[in-house]
Amino acid sequence: MAKLSIRDIEIKGKTLLMRADFNVPQDKELNITDDTRIRATLTTVRYILDNSVGKLILISHLGRPDGKVVDKYSLKPVAKRLQELLNEPVKFLADCVGEKIKDDVRAAKERIILLENLRFYAEEENNDPEFSKKLASLADFFINDAFGTAHRAHASTEGVAHYIKSAAGLLLEKEIRYLGEAVQNPVRPFMLILGGAKVSDKIGIIENLLPKCDCILVGGGMAYTFLKAQGLAIGNSRLEKDKIGLAKNILDKAKNLNKEIVLPIDHVIVGNIDNDADIKICDREIPDGKMAVDIGPKTVGLFEGKLKGAKTIVWNGPLGIFETDSFSKGTKEIAEFIGNLNCTSIIGGGDTAAAIAKFKLEDKMTHISTGGGASLEFLEGRTLPGIAALTDKK
Ligand code: 3PG
Repeated sequence: MAKLSIRDIEIKGKTLLMRADFNVPQDKELNITDDTRIRATLTTVRYILDNSVGKLILISHLGRPDGKVVDKYSLKPVAKRLQELLNEPVKFLADCVGEKIKDDVRAAKERIILLENLRFYAEEENNDPEFSKKLASLADFFINDAFGTAHRAHASTEGVAHYIKSAAGLLLEKEIRYLGEAVQNPVRPFMLILGGAKVSDKIGIIENLLPKCDCILVGGGMAYTFLKAQGLAIGNSRLEKDKIGLAKNILDKAKNLNKEIVLPIDHVIVGNIDNDADIKICDREIPDGKMAVDIGPKTVGLFEGKLKGAKTIVWNGPLGIFETDSFSKGTKEIAEFIGNLNCTSIIGGGDTAAAIAKFKLEDKMTHISTGGGASLEFLEGRTLPGIAALTDKK
């Protein structure tokens, strides 16, 4: 990696400021309903505790409070969960910058301190240089482990790195290794699986990875704009009318590059998305009044045949409406099949990661990204400001 890693710096006795992505979902009572992102930073936190006798100051955002103090977006519940997971006291401070915070950090007996939500200040999202300087003044080094927020050029992700020596944490490094390096120089065959609702969300990935991959398997709602572009009947299935021309261009481009784009050959269909009682399987064309909600069994077989010998698989977007059990079979069967392959399997964050979690297959995948928007932008080949700002390796 061209950027400094936490492993490249001597952290013993130093105070570290680490940006994490603790933007976790909560219920109405503010209980954390999924702590994956907190658990994902534990490797870096433990590395710091094992190698440093100084202090670790953790910073993050939670939700979108728009520069105002909004109680429900407090990071206090995160401090509690972190403490439980680490079995080590975590001091929570109810602000994130200023002289009082500096004093409180100095006075704290705990090794780990979590500061309050950065986005309670508008300066955070505005990438305000004075705010960045205040953050930088808290520590000797800045560590960025917040891959999920690395696509944002904010004070705590980008700005701060201009005022203090800055390195990648172990989670950020892992995300770069799998979503960046493994994709740039893939072990072949390299297969890309794309799903989710819209073609428009995946154009960037297709443009970046079509020339690099060996084959693209397409499912989910986005497949139906491609099938329409091939002149097939799609009933009431999801269609982006204004993207039919684009889908045609992508299919032509793939042909010219001698790359295969594989589309569903059968479908799970219903008349009404809210009623799974009349669920049916149909081949090829979808009758009027019906809509596809999952790939059919023949498509599952077709996709498995293509994936069989793969050495690298990148998957972004579910293949059906996996949140509804009766529409989740295609996504589940493909996930189980990949889990048993001897290959590097890289799962994009957001919905795809949620599907893998629903099927309890997390341990079967090589890497599941903690970034939703960030993993999408990284797979599009874009430079993420939170990574670009880190100190270069000499
Ligand atoms: C995410 O959940 O994708 C990240 O934490 C970034 O959050 P944001 O979209 O509010 O910047």
